[in-house]
Amino acid sequence: MRKVEIHPEAVERVKKYTISDSVLGFGKYVAPIMIEAIYDNGQWQRFDLLPYGPIQLDPCTKVLHYGQEIFEGMKAFRQPNDEIKLFRPEMNARRFNQSARRMSMPEVPEELFLNACEVICAYCKNLVPKRLGESLYLRPFMIATEVGLGIKPSKQFLFVIVASPSGAYFSGDSVKVFIERDDIRAAQGGIGFAKTGGNYAASLQSYTKTIQAGCDQTMWLDSSHQYIEEMSGMNFMCIIDGELHTPALTDTILDGITRKSVLELARHEKIKVVEGKIAIDSLLQLIEEGRCTEAFVCGTASVICPISSFLDKDGRTHYMKYGEGKMSMYLREKLISIQGGREQGPEGWLYPVKDIHF
Ligand code: COI
Repeated sequence: MRKVEIHPEAVERVKKYTISDSVLGFGKYVAPIMIEAIYDNGQWQRFDLLPYGPIQLDPCTKVLHYGQEIFEGMKAFRQPNDEIKLFRPEMNARRFNQSARRMSMPEVPEELFLNACEVICAYCKNLVPKRLGESLYLRPFMIATEVGLGIKPSKQFLFVIVASPSGAYFSGDSVKVFIERDDIRAAQGGIGFAKTGGNYAASLQSYTKTIQAGCDQTMWLDSSHQYIEEMSGMNFMCIIDGELHTPALTDTILDGITRKSVLELARHEKIKVVEGKIAIDSLLQLIEEGRCTEAFVCGTASVICPISSFLDKDGRTHYMKYGEGKMSMYLREKLISIQGGREQGPEGWLYPVKDIHF
């Protein structure tokens, strides 16, 4: 396995760093070290653990013009015996490479990806929060670094991992959803399934509408404007007649690792899972009839967060009045306690980070 070059200045920096005892929030604090790797001449050259700092780019670097970029979101958790464990990092490695293929970028061999994640976690051991549900959030990303304004795939790339001690993504206990009836996030054959910055950039105009309407998250429909796809940064699930429903994966939906994990947990708990098409108008009708009792978002950053209402284009708000969020909260507690090592989860979900003495 290729070694990560450890720079002594990085070790000195991280040794001195302590994390805040107050509410961490999401992505506000960042570890003082990062992983960097360069791709050139058709291969990954070297992996370094460096002090956190700015990346210098020529103004004509391709990523700045054509958005050739991908990223991942993953978490490491402190266990009751103080060990650090990553949650299903192989899934992130695989999804990263799926995104890379779609965006004409080189894959990062799974072993290198996992080793780099493990190294940054090991050196950030003191930065992994202690409170249940909090984590060290890792953000691996890759950008096209070739210089030149011609539109063609870059031949040079930079892979980076930064780490952020994080708590809850949302400040409240539930989210209000704004149904985006006009714009769409993704279309068949496009890049909707890839974790690439452009998908998130495309959601920002609706984010502004969402916030101005007093809501927290945008709900995206498919290109026919009828069926639910996902939220801007997480997947969608709901409970209808006691069964767990979620949109089936297509090339317009991000294949969420939390989504996959929640479905596996639900099946294990003998909850019936239905992956299919969910028409927004039927969902609103089922909420009115009291048959859809819960709805929630799920993702790495957001874990599971209940939806309290849906605001539609006609100005009507549909409240989740019948639900008490029982099933979603049950699944949330279960997932959090597995991640935090309080409860045994399915085989292989937790990936141990080897301790490094420094
Ligand atoms: C994640 O859940 O890790 C994401 O990348 C989505 C974003 C809302 C932070």
